[in-house]
Amino acid sequence: MTDIQTLESAILAEIEAATDETALDAVRVGALGKKGSISEQMKTLGKMTPEERQTMGPLLNGLKTKVADAVKTRQDVLKRAGVEARLASERVDVTLPGRPNPLEKGRIHPITQVMDEITAIFADMGFSVAEGPDIETDYYNFTALNFPEGHPAREMHDTFFFNPDENGERRVLRTHTSPVQIRTMETQKPPIRIVIPGKTYRQDSDATHSAMFHQLEGLVIDEKANIANLKWMLQEFCKTFFEVPSLNMRFRPSFFPFTEPSLEVDIQCDRSGAEVKLGEGDDWMEILGSGMVHPNVLRAGGVDPDVYQGFAWGIGIDRIAMLKYGMPDLRPFFEADQRWINHYGFRPLDMPTLFDGLSA
Ligand code: DAH
Repeated sequence: MTDIQTLESAILAEIEAATDETALDAVRVGALGKKGSISEQMKTLGKMTPEERQTMGPLLNGLKTKVADAVKTRQDVLKRAGVEARLASERVDVTLPGRPNPLEKGRIHPITQVMDEITAIFADMGFSVAEGPDIETDYYNFTALNFPEGHPAREMHDTFFFNPDENGERRVLRTHTSPVQIRTMETQKPPIRIVIPGKTYRQDSDATHSAMFHQLEGLVIDEKANIANLKWMLQEFCKTFFEVPSLNMRFRPSFFPFTEPSLEVDIQCDRSGAEVKLGEGDDWMEILGSGMVHPNVLRAGGVDPDVYQGFAWGIGIDRIAMLKYGMPDLRPFFEADQRWINHYGFRPLDMPTLFDGLSA
């Protein structure tokens, strides 16, 4: 084998062995570049005798062409392989089922939904939202709300008491959201217009009562707030919340230590079928308590009852949620059963608003 043939098979072998375009280019430069092995051979032509040059010239030129062609062929092969590898790795199986967006999977609990609906309605009437602690002192839960010591009304609430502290005082799980009325009056000057959604606790449980439940308290205090305002506002609230054009309501005299006079409010309903129907029938369902804030309660909150007056109300959120969305039993609200929440829950991005529909 001549030197030329040895060089040729060495270079062609390197070309075949190149597995990517960078490696191939290195082989090309090594052979045909300025200082490449073939180029070095070409430089020797000048020192040859004319006869030698006559045989070596065409041989070297032929080698050059052969190598350049081989590089080109290999380059095409590598390019195609690259494209095929990419196609294989980026292959998408269009027959696979779509993956649901996590946002589509999650559901908003009906209690949260109803709280959002209620606050949307009252925000539109100019109310802001206030909150208070679930663990209350006896003072805020009872005394400041005009429950005298030893008054039987304290027993009405089936309170959960904590063990007494070193001063003999027992904290309680708040039995209603009314203590936040006092906390708000202590920190805010009238006019006051607030709603207070929150958890409340009583020792009671059956299909329509649970030991933890939810209330929404409302409080309005200014110089002229009166029962007519209260009745109008509650009527507007009920129509908007239940999304009906009219709703018969009944205001019954009642007793709460913290209001005078006190009213209980019923809405007209029909209970003859399996589901309770609103706005028809000859039955009534109690949905809230309300009244004019008792002067002792204003005083406890640091508000002068000779200058200011106000009204307040408290609604059971769980109950109106059951009523609006046709849920017969309260207990599943707190059982965390995924099938129930999938059925009764709300889509997370469907925020209740008055302009776009509360429950749409
Ligand atoms: N706190 C009362 C309860 O839980 C509900 C209530 C009645 C709240 C009358 C009020 C009100 O603000 O004025 O039974």
